[in-house]
Amino acid sequence: MTNRKVGIIGAGAVGATAAFSLAMTGTCNEIILYDIDTDIAIGKAIDIEQATSFSPSGTKVWGAEQPSDMKNCDIVVITAGVPRTGEMTREDLLLINAKITKEVVENIKLYSPNAIIICVSNPLDVMSYVCHKITGWDSSRIIGMAGALDSSRMAYQINNHLGYGRAQTRAMVIGDHGENMIPVPSLSSIGGVPITEIISKENMEQIIARTKTGGAVIVKHLGTSAYYAPGRCVAVMVEAILNDSQIIIPSSVLLNGEYGYKDVSVGVPIIVGKNGVEKIIELELDEELQDKFKQSVTTIKKGIEVLTKNNFF
Ligand code: APR
Repeated sequence: MTNRKVGIIGAGAVGATAAFSLAMTGTCNEIILYDIDTDIAIGKAIDIEQATSFSPSGTKVWGAEQPSDMKNCDIVVITAGVPRTGEMTREDLLLINAKITKEVVENIKLYSPNAIIICVSNPLDVMSYVCHKITGWDSSRIIGMAGALDSSRMAYQINNHLGYGRAQTRAMVIGDHGENMIPVPSLSSIGGVPITEIISKENMEQIIARTKTGGAVIVKHLGTSAYYAPGRCVAVMVEAILNDSQIIIPSSVLLNGEYGYKDVSVGVPIIVGKNGVEKIIELELDEELQDKFKQSVTTIKKGIEVLTKNNFF
């Protein structure tokens, strides 16, 4: 990609951290932040560009004043959304964030018609599906970022349990980005050694449980959701696309018959490269994993149904 131009919609905690991470590695020529709160986008962009003074290569970072300023991006990351507050039900949140996602996607279609979208807003799998429905683009151009984060949380739990293998651990989490996510020990390894060879089934159950509550633990301490790891995971995906890395990252993508499902976005391992989703890796799931995967898909489809019932599409 020649322009290496990345737009980030939502300059909140995750969006700004992704921008900062990208600016530090010097992967992009240009990063544009857009937020409904223009001052946040402009102020954070100035701060981030000033931080590039000592980074490997200068990245231009600027805040857009209106959606039309974010033109012809190679990649657009969507982190716009609102967090769930006390009086809001899950369904309320779903409808509010879906409306925001629809609005920003319509602008992406207008101003960056050739972009690849990385969706981060929650509920992630349903929002990724919204991106597909609203764009009508080839499904390879929309990727939901969740599996990278959930897998990094699983790796963290494995390393904490063992006390060794940091940076050598490769974990795999598939399914939805929610309570039915599926950490898969049989697809996780340290330095090439399957973790099933070194961690007992009982301890593995604990690691799986902690992986699932990985995000909630951070919320308990911080009073807000995580952003360093999510921001870094977004940057890793952007880098993989811009550099045409052709690496495997579990991500939420639209299935069209793979794994036996259609018309739903859910986390599976994919190859990421210059075209976005280069290939969906179809794993042979055993019966137990198939049941869990079905549960994940059912949960996501229920979210999509809420939108359909409310005449969203
Ligand atoms: N257009 C542009 N930006 C918007 C819009 C909109 N219509 N609506 C809200 N925003 C902006 C907010 O002003 C805010 O700055 O989106 C930003 C969201 O940032 P945070 O509230 O800090 O949330 P963050 O922690 O970054 O999470 C963003 O990613 O992980 C998910 O669940 C998370 O959906 C959430 C998203």
